[in-house]
Amino acid sequence: MEILKDVASDEYSRLPKQFWWGSDCLYEWRGFWFRLPHLPGIRNVAEHFDPAPGDVVLASFPKTGTTWMKALLYSIIHQGDFSCSLRDKHPHELIHVMELQDFGPSAVSSSRGSGTERHTSTGIHHTHIPFSILADKYRTSECRIIYVTRNPKDTLISLWHFACASDTFASSASLQDLVEKFCSGVVPYGSYYNHVLEHWKESLERPDKVLFVSYEELKADQKKQIKRIAKFLSQPFHGNDEDGVVEEIVRSCSFKSMSEYEANKSREEAEWLGLPYNAFFRKGEVGDHKNYLNEEMIEKINRKTVKKFHDAGFMY
Ligand code: A3P
Repeated sequence: MEILKDVASDEYSRLPKQFWWGSDCLYEWRGFWFRLPHLPGIRNVAEHFDPAPGDVVLASFPKTGTTWMKALLYSIIHQGDFSCSLRDKHPHELIHVMELQDFGPSAVSSSRGSGTERHTSTGIHHTHIPFSILADKYRTSECRIIYVTRNPKDTLISLWHFACASDTFASSASLQDLVEKFCSGVVPYGSYYNHVLEHWKESLERPDKVLFVSYEELKADQKKQIKRIAKFLSQPFHGNDEDGVVEEIVRSCSFKSMSEYEANKSREEAEWLGLPYNAFFRKGEVGDHKNYLNEEMIEKINRKTVKKFHDAGFMY
């Protein structure tokens, strides 16, 4: 079985490409845009990921609340001693990003073994890969998918800050440019709109297999959403004190608690990402885009949202 390692392969150089941030390019593969260093891992997942029927895949577009959802899922599954693990390990080390940590070139070539053999101990996998690229695998394996999403303006502003935290991008940053690229779909794993719509449609068609959760719903009523997720996972809470367990999960996974855990405060660089672990915790609020986007930018994104989401029947 051939595992792709080489990011400079000739095949990639023939893909359509576009600048998205300074001199960094994205490459179009199977209808979505990806960074070159991520493509071998993404293709490896598309070819070799073999989910078991009981597996759960957390799918998300970047910056939509993935880290939070990882902590919640881990806690729901490990009721009891979860806060200890959450304190000691970053959520991305508890539940890996498959294409970067399990199937990426560094994982494949390292002594930790090939991505095709590796599985997380939780039975939960995470990916940012669009639904259509993994649809056959999802449908034939009968695994369950939890998709977390977030409103486009806050997602964009979170992405902006995340990219600015990287030495590669900080110097050539222009928010105006990023708004243009976001609306035209040319952002990593974009288009954001198609990414969300694909998962949303599948959640309507197969509600027993795909659960669609938004960042804003979580913020508004965490207890309700935690119970909803636990029910979807067929993961009843032990004992009589369901509310007590749920409250403990809310507390342990709150932005305040999580951003104070040593593993999450760490400035150490995650080698699979090239950014420090603490970059995943910034503000954790709904509506922060108002502090950064001007009226013209907001209108542009709103127009795009109406055209893509509202016309398809999805309201955001
Ligand atoms: P902001 O940049 O708006 O603060 P992802 O995990 O998909 O990369 O998303 C990161 C976003 O989720 C960041 O948003 C981050 O601050 C926020 N976040 C991380 N942990 C959170 C938590 N426990 N509660 C709420 N938001 C959280």
